Amino acid sequence: MSAARRVVLLGFMAAGKTTVGRELAVLLGWRFLDVDQEIERRRGRSIPDIFREMGEAAFRAIEAEVASELVVDSEIVLAPGGGWVSGPMDLEALPPETLTVWLRISPEEILRRVSAAGDPGETRPLLRSADPLERVRTLLNAREPIYRKAALWVETEARSPHEIADEIARAVRDLELD
Ligand code: S3P
Repeated sequence: MSAARRVVLLGFMAAGKTTVGRELAVLLGWRFLDVDQEIERRRGRSIPDIFREMGEAAFRAIEAEVASELVVDSEIVLAPGGGWVSGPMDLEALPPETLTVWLRISPEEILRRVSAAGDPGETRPLLRSADPLERVRTLLNAREPIYRKAALWVETEARSPHEIADEIARAVRDLELD
């Protein structure tokens, strides 16, 4: 048994992985790493552009590679995109001393948050659909079996990012991992 040395945040788009992740990193005095931002930096183009130019399968391969490269570091909070779990990754293959956390959110709240940020189909290419709520439900159903494998489940609705980050920080300090 040992203490956690890194946190990996799982959860659907708009669950708050980036916002909560930044706060959590500050609370722990660790570094925050955002996989999407790192992909955009390395490729010199936005995620929607990568989807448009290369397609989803190519994006998933890049995402899996970048995430597995970043996750080996310690004292980090890593936020992959919500669809990382649908690519060629293996949760069981994460380094030891990794606390996986599922930020839980309902389909309705997902749609509220992504719509508030503009046209969902523009910023989130996978939500480009005549019925985005149905699309969210379908994707969430497919991904949930993997999100459920997270060691810690945290409710995000009607809670501030700080509250959520604080709950995870306490778990990191208290929890002993196998
Ligand atoms: C995706 C989520 C996005 C981004 C891409 C695909 C997904 O990240 O990686 O648009 O398939 O759920 P966020 O979860 O940070 O929105």
